[in-house]
Amino acid sequence: MPVSTSYGEIRSWSNHDVDALVKYANNRKVWLNLTDAFPHPYNEASAAAFLAMVERQSPTTYFAIATREEAIGGIGIGPKPDVYRLTAEMGYWLAEPYWGKGIMTETVARFTDYAFAQFRLVRIYAEPYAHNSASCRVLEKAGYVLEGRLRSSAIKDGRILDQFLYAQVRGLGTVCAAG
Ligand SMILES: CC(C)(COP(=O)(O)OP(=O)(O)OC[C@H]1O[C@@H](n2cnc3c(N)ncnc32)[C@H](O)[C@@H]1OP(=O)(O)O)[C@@H](O)C(=O)NCCC(=O)NCCS
Repeated sequence: MPVSTSYGEIRSWSNHDVDALVKYANNRKVWLNLTDAFPHPYNEASAAAFLAMVERQSPTTYFAIATREEAIGGIGIGPKPDVYRLTAEMGYWLAEPYWGKGIMTETVARFTDYAFAQFRLVRIYAEPYAHNSASCRVLEKAGYVLEGRLRSSAIKDGRILDQFLYAQVRGLGTVCAAG
């Protein structure tokens, strides 16, 4: 990172991003589509805790989506352990004023290329709630394949929800039998 994009860049988080994080992440419409690990309400302490967590990461797997002026969202992967260690789950969110401009489609496509190149992965997947048509569309346009419907797999805001499972699979240059 950084990766430049038509709207700005995907870049590392910085301690200067606290204000933008509070401004844009403190949005129930964003929270409703994410896991409960994403705080709501989202205040300065939430932003500081997130940025401190990212600073401790090695390697860094969470990044900011940013214009030239400010952070407007986040994207990242969570690598899996044990026999799933060549797999990672991807998550992302975008500030509401920027929805519907193609930003996340470009971001997911660019970030997926980056993640496959940077980390030792053969599979990246995402599990949007089934009602999140915009996110499903983003994944499809960014080259992810729908693998199935995870029935009653999550509870969010008191509602039991289905999720769709989307994944992209690529080969490793050399797969070592010992892993
Ligand atoms: C979902 C989200 C990432 C989409 O980002 P975005 O930059 O607005 O997405 P894009 O503009 O690149 O593409 C959105 C696509 O979804 C479509 N779309 C938007 N709302 C839709 C809806 N209600 N039903 C069906 N399609 C919809 C758009 O038309 C567009 O597809 P098109 O280009 O074929 O017309 C953004 O709304 C967001 O951050 N939401 C809150 C958090 C979230 O949902 N994160 C993902 C968790 S899996």
